Amino acid sequence: MKQIQWYPGHMAKTKRQLKEKMKQIDVVLELVDARAPFSSMNPIIPEISQTTQRVVVMNKADLADQQHLDQWQIFFAKQGIPSIFVNAQHQKTTQKLYTLIDTVTEDIRHKAQERGINDPIIRIMIVGIPNVGKSTIINQLAGKKKLKIGDKPGVTRQTQFITVKKGLEVMDTPGILWPKFDDEAIALKLALIGAIKDSILPIDNVVIYGLNYLIEHKPEKLKTHYDIELSDDIVEVLDNIGRARGCIMRGNEIDYDRVYSLFLHDFRHLKFGPLCLDEVTEHETV
Ligand code: G4P
Repeated sequence: MKQIQWYPGHMAKTKRQLKEKMKQIDVVLELVDARAPFSSMNPIIPEISQTTQRVVVMNKADLADQQHLDQWQIFFAKQGIPSIFVNAQHQKTTQKLYTLIDTVTEDIRHKAQERGINDPIIRIMIVGIPNVGKSTIINQLAGKKKLKIGDKPGVTRQTQFITVKKGLEVMDTPGILWPKFDDEAIALKLALIGAIKDSILPIDNVVIYGLNYLIEHKPEKLKTHYDIELSDDIVEVLDNIGRARGCIMRGNEIDYDRVYSLFLHDFRHLKFGPLCLDEVTEHETV
């Protein structure tokens, strides 16, 4: 995973640059992870997109549960923010995005026509924290066209736009924003879904957070996946997983590091089914 160190000066500079670039943009596609649509948002988007149409794209929908996605879509709509859930790896995502962009830019195109411009060019920009699928979406939208730009050696890497279809251009580099670090629960959720590197937080805390989540929301899945009994004592649950999966060291001790890696792998690979760590009911606005 790409790892970026964020410093206050770096964040201020990114914000300034994005604000500046936003002047050229009609629609900002704010990518979030569908397994944590609130936690994976960056707080500056509302501010930098004040005069730009904002659309929330909940990506990795294949890993999230449908019921939560529906609830989040209603939540965003109530705040006047159009949203969509997609799997960036699927080709049909492109068409879904085109349709939404067409809908949200109707007004812009109408106004342009009134000024005598029949085929205005709509420019979009993709922003989001690392690992939410920005590059995958850009590649999906741009297809082979992106290669034309990347193939030119020595060209100063200024912002460039790729025409993805008639009248629609996408900025070739995404706006990479920092994740929210200040709230511990948010950081734990981001670590659990792999949106921030495992080494940032103590791995045992991340695993225990995930286990407690499953014990509360999906106890049966947890029990049957490992064929274990649950307990109020989380260490006992870790021990049970360790024994069930043979994560044992010399002296018959549980190898917790192996249990942690195993659990995180299973959590991120749908072994407990699609899920969403953010509850709509816990939030009023974004
Ligand atoms: P970024 O630019 O926002 O940092 O994210 P990027 O597109 O690099 O995607 C991060 C990881 O998420 C990649 O996996 C990518 O394949 C995966 N991904 C993107 N969109 C989706 C999606 O809709 N569903 C699922 N399940 N995964 C998605 P990786 O393991 O880092 O790379 P790779 O092994 O796929 O090359």
